[in-house]
Amino acid sequence: MKHPTKTLRSAPRFRGDPATALVHTRAELTPARAAMPGSVAVVMTMGALHEGHRELLRAAREQADHVIATIFVNPLQFGPNEDFDRYPRTLDADVAVCAEAGVDLVFAPDRDEMYPSGEPMVRVNPGELGERLEGASRPGFFHGVLTVVLKLLQVTRPDLAFFGEKDYQQLTLVRRMVRDLDVPVRIVGVPTVREPDGLALSSRNRYLTPAERAAALTLSGALRAGAEAAAQGRDGEAVARAAFDSDAAKLDYLVLTDPDLGPPPAEGPARLLVAAWVGSTRLIDNVAVEVASST
Ligand code: PAF
Repeated sequence: MKHPTKTLRSAPRFRGDPATALVHTRAELTPARAAMPGSVAVVMTMGALHEGHRELLRAAREQADHVIATIFVNPLQFGPNEDFDRYPRTLDADVAVCAEAGVDLVFAPDRDEMYPSGEPMVRVNPGELGERLEGASRPGFFHGVLTVVLKLLQVTRPDLAFFGEKDYQQLTLVRRMVRDLDVPVRIVGVPTVREPDGLALSSRNRYLTPAERAAALTLSGALRAGAEAAAQGRDGEAVARAAFDSDAAKLDYLVLTDPDLGPPPAEGPARLLVAAWVGSTRLIDNVAVEVASST
């Protein structure tokens, strides 16, 4: 069902849908944003939208008067040997998803629009947390993520910004950035969407062959085993490692932390996170854990 038409006179409409506008430049974005009365939410994406993104858009739609979606494959967050060139680019389908989800405005800039002076000299430094977990395997990744997130917050000026818990370290760092740098926005985390067999949705799942898709279940299976064990007062991280039993998936890290990615608690809320290579595809996943005391 289409969302009811809204009036944003200053931006061009997307195709035949009067409720969703597609813009590519800041010059178009700024007046369209200024014409939005009430609260505004942003959902930042790199496109290749799936059910996980739809969930972000739904949550944003429910909690704000207007929703802006951004679609930009950010070169700054890809290492030299990563999948920037082969990352799926599906703008038409993505804009259709946004229109169906009742998004008011899609901002899809190109590289020159986002980085008119070339590579930015000044970047957001994620600090020590940006060097661990994903940051240890992907040097510079979170500098690139936080820099583009801050830029997109500046140009869209939202009241709320929605991020998936699937990228839990990213969500944690974005929360930290807005707190540390006094960015006036409320960050909302949205639970991970999974396939019925447990696989966390990701734009990168489309790289997987059927055999790799089967091997990818090792990640969610290990997390489930670890979370259950921790809830029974056993060593959740050790149980998850033992359950990560696959020749086809190569483990990068599997750790139990507190909810802020610090040392694991003896008892109470925690997070279990995993990253692994399945073929040439790097996958990540995580779950909330309630650690029971072992005594
Ligand atoms: O999660 C993503 O898709 C990206 O890291 C983000 C937040 C859109 C920044 O490029």
